[in-house]
Amino acid sequence: MIFYFTGTGNSWYAAKTIAEAQGEQLVSIAKEFDKGGQVFSYELQENELMGFVFPVYAWAPPKIVLDFIGCLQVSGGKPYVFSLSTCGGEEGNTTPIIQKALTKKGLTLNNAFTIKMPNNYMLGFDVDSQEEVTDRLEKAVQKLAEINAVLAKRQKGVYDTIPGKFAALKTAAINPMFSRFARNTKHFYVTDKCIRCGICEKVCPIHTIQVKEKPVWDKSCLQCFACINHCPVQAIQYGKGTAKKGRYLHPDYKNIL
Ligand SMILES: Cc1cc2nc3c(=O)[nH]c(=O)nc-3n(C[C@H](O)[C@H](O)[C@H](O)COP(=O)(O)O)c2cc1C
Repeated sequence: MIFYFTGTGNSWYAAKTIAEAQGEQLVSIAKEFDKGGQVFSYELQENELMGFVFPVYAWAPPKIVLDFIGCLQVSGGKPYVFSLSTCGGEEGNTTPIIQKALTKKGLTLNNAFTIKMPNNYMLGFDVDSQEEVTDRLEKAVQKLAEINAVLAKRQKGVYDTIPGKFAALKTAAINPMFSRFARNTKHFYVTDKCIRCGICEKVCPIHTIQVKEKPVWDKSCLQCFACINHCPVQAIQYGKGTAKKGRYLHPDYKNIL
């Protein structure tokens, strides 16, 4: 069972590639939340593959992934567990945080991976050039083949992650500020370019957007940047920092709507 969360398709692509190669079910964490309920119960067999694939936000896992793990109830045998974070550069302390959350649920993180994929965050930086995107996506295909080989053999203790320098410090210093000040919709707005296509409403994993006369944001937000990156006419902006920046979607994810 491969659980994933994605905003712009990188983690979806990675999770799908693994699920297909391993003959596993692909499960969207956002869609599991849509079903309602306080507990997510799954029965797994001894040594059955259980994966968590998600993007890195401010050197940590997305809140929705940690909330999901917090509500997990696993019965049956002891699964073979891995995590895979996708990021634009480095994951900081993401893996130790996931490991701690899984341990609390009585699950052992057997392997952990990070794949550097195209960056979908254009505040402060910009998205990657087309050449860089192509290069990263090609390398990701190769990396996923290596990961699939490890998983197929049920190898244990493979920690192939990219924490970067001062990982613990960056996560401890920046992530709480991200959670407190950035994870809201205050700075999103839409320009006259909006064609009211409704794509932003469809792609928001927590249904915070409603397209009426124009898109309207409720308060809560994961900052996944799905809305801003999916908008086909670049009508969605975030503060003053995105008007002149590029947008990114995984090429295979563009056609899933
Ligand atoms: C709010 C936000 C914060 C991010 N923080 C980080 C980060 O700390 N480190 C990093 O390498 N990439 C960071 N990224 C880039 C994403 O992790 C990366 O592009 C990821 O592959 C996107 O996955 P997705 O397409 O499945 O949504 C951030 C992206 C967003 C939207």
